[in-house]
Amino acid sequence: MKTFPTSAAWCFGILFISVSLITTVSSEVQVVGPADKVVALAGDDVILPCSLKPSVNAEGMIVEWTELNQKAANVHLYRDRRDSYEGQLPSYKGRTSMFKEELKNGNVSLKLTRVTLSDAGRYRCFLPKLNSQVKETTVQLFVDSFSHS
Ligand SMILES: *[C@@H]1O[C@H](CO)[C@@H](O)[C@H](O)[C@H]1NC(C)=O
Repeated sequence: MKTFPTSAAWCFGILFISVSLITTVSSEVQVVGPADKVVALAGDDVILPCSLKPSVNAEGMIVEWTELNQKAANVHLYRDRRDSYEGQLPSYKGRTSMFKEELKNGNVSLKLTRVTLSDAGRYRCFLPKLNSQVKETTVQLFVDSFSHS
């Protein structure tokens, strides 16, 4: 009885599985947040970073920005290639926007203007239709009050 063919088959099998795992994992698009914490001064504008890595065009995707501290309430929604303010928290009205020119580069960052102290918290950037294991990231926003000293 020769055991060689069996072990060779196992070796090839394991090698094949490993290689396919590595290639699927590395080629898969991921939603990536900021490397550092995001700090804003009350009254200023701030960008909550979120992008797709490797970059793929996000113009036709759905992007949901929600506030996790407020039961995942809607902060900004982008779908059907435009902004939707359906169900948006009133406190964010007229203060949110996305960078339309950046969407094609996979940059789905949110711009929040006239930041208030109560904006501090955790924001979720979620792309429900993204064909990936990693469809979301969380961005923590810290807000400093203006000091007159
Ligand atoms: C996304 O776009 C904004 C606005 O132009 C820019 O400030 C930010 O650096 C961009 N992020 C990435 C990851 O390119």
